[in-house]
Amino acid sequence: MLTKINVSLESRSYPIYIGDGILTDSKLILTAIHSNQVVIVTDSNVANFHLKAVKQHFSKNECHTFILSPGEESKNFVELERLLSFMLENNINRNATLIALGGGVVGDLAGFAAASYQRGISYVQMPTTLLAQVDSSVGGKTAINLPLGKNMVGAFYQPQAVFIDTSTLKTLPNREFNSGMAEVVKYGLINDADFLDWIGANVLNILAQNGDTLNYLIQRSCENKAKIVSADEQERGIRATLNLGHTFGHAIETALGYGKWLHGEAVAAGIMMALFMSWKLGFLHKGQIKEIKLLLTQFSLPTEAPQQITPEQFIALMSKDKKNIDGSIRLVLLKNFGDAFVTNDYLKEILLETVENHAY
Ligand SMILES: NC(=O)c1ccc[n+]([C@@H]2O[C@H](COP(=O)([O-])OP(=O)(O)OC[C@H]3O[C@@H](n4cnc5c(N)ncnc54)[C@H](O)[C@@H]3O)[C@@H](O)[C@H]2O)c1
Ligand SMILES: [Zn+2]
Repeated sequence: MLTKINVSLESRSYPIYIGDGILTDSKLILTAIHSNQVVIVTDSNVANFHLKAVKQHFSKNECHTFILSPGEESKNFVELERLLSFMLENNINRNATLIALGGGVVGDLAGFAAASYQRGISYVQMPTTLLAQVDSSVGGKTAINLPLGKNMVGAFYQPQAVFIDTSTLKTLPNREFNSGMAEVVKYGLINDADFLDWIGANVLNILAQNGDTLNYLIQRSCENKAKIVSADEQERGIRATLNLGHTFGHAIETALGYGKWLHGEAVAAGIMMALFMSWKLGFLHKGQIKEIKLLLTQFSLPTEAPQQITPEQFIALMSKDKKNIDGSIRLVLLKNFGDAFVTNDYLKEILLETVENHAY
């Protein structure tokens, strides 16, 4: 079965295709790629499992492949420059299409390369992690990290299409699958309380990676993301709610060193911190915090920040968040499940208590 979701952004609109085995469907893939020159960007893990299937569509094209080392550590200037230089060395021109085949690291870096190479060339996303399939491949946020902060250099730059082949998840390690579940739970919390109930009722099927369950989970996540991105492409309002748990989470990733905790793991702990703070401000009740703690635990996700990060470190790192304006830290909090808001209107002591606290 093939599902199609539209990301509606006027002239920058594009389809998301979801289906089992679609990366082998030449006819479908070639609907979005009309260039003679194609550059496939991937990492060495994904290349082992899935590169051949994608390459075969381009036997009549000039097709180049660029392979990154796997992991967050590759999302940097050195690798970006290496990719851009590779493209120039191979005389890649402005009509070329870049293909991001991999997880969020490949998607973010390749997307930014597409945005910046000769002021912008076309690209498509072929996400192969759960996290990339439910989140990072949709919406056109591209970026690399600086040592001082995650995703600090990048662009909003939409792909031509997103091809989500759910069968690629079969080769994904469990820890990576679970990391993606943090973003899925996030959609339920910020925007879709019914989906949150559905996740809670389907934990075993999700963990077993039942085909129909996965299809629905990815589809509903993409629908949530597409709706939010269509309403606010450049994050001037509602799109910021997609950062639930991320201001805390990015601080964890940066403090520990990129790659120590997976992105979704840091987001899971960050979500718990945001829930705690929402409760402290009088919004949620304790039972709701416990409910989410249990849910995240079922996906083997951490529910508290690492002890070694000091409150001062947290505040210093969170002060560099892109959502901040006028020197105050803006946070995504919840009024209720499915009802997120962004605020910098809280007592500093409550934020301090949140980053000091390690048990909810
Ligand atoms: N742009 C956005 O909107 C957005 C949203 C959320 C997250 N992100 C970014 O995404 C990144 C995290 O992405 P990720 O979790 O996909 O990590 P990732 O890209 O590092 O992939 C995780 C690991 O899984 C391996 N892998 C990928 N697909 C595989 C497959 N099918 N089989 C076997 N191994 C496979 C990779 O080689 C890597 O080792 C972070 O940098 C985060 O900031 C971006
Ligand atoms: Zn995220």
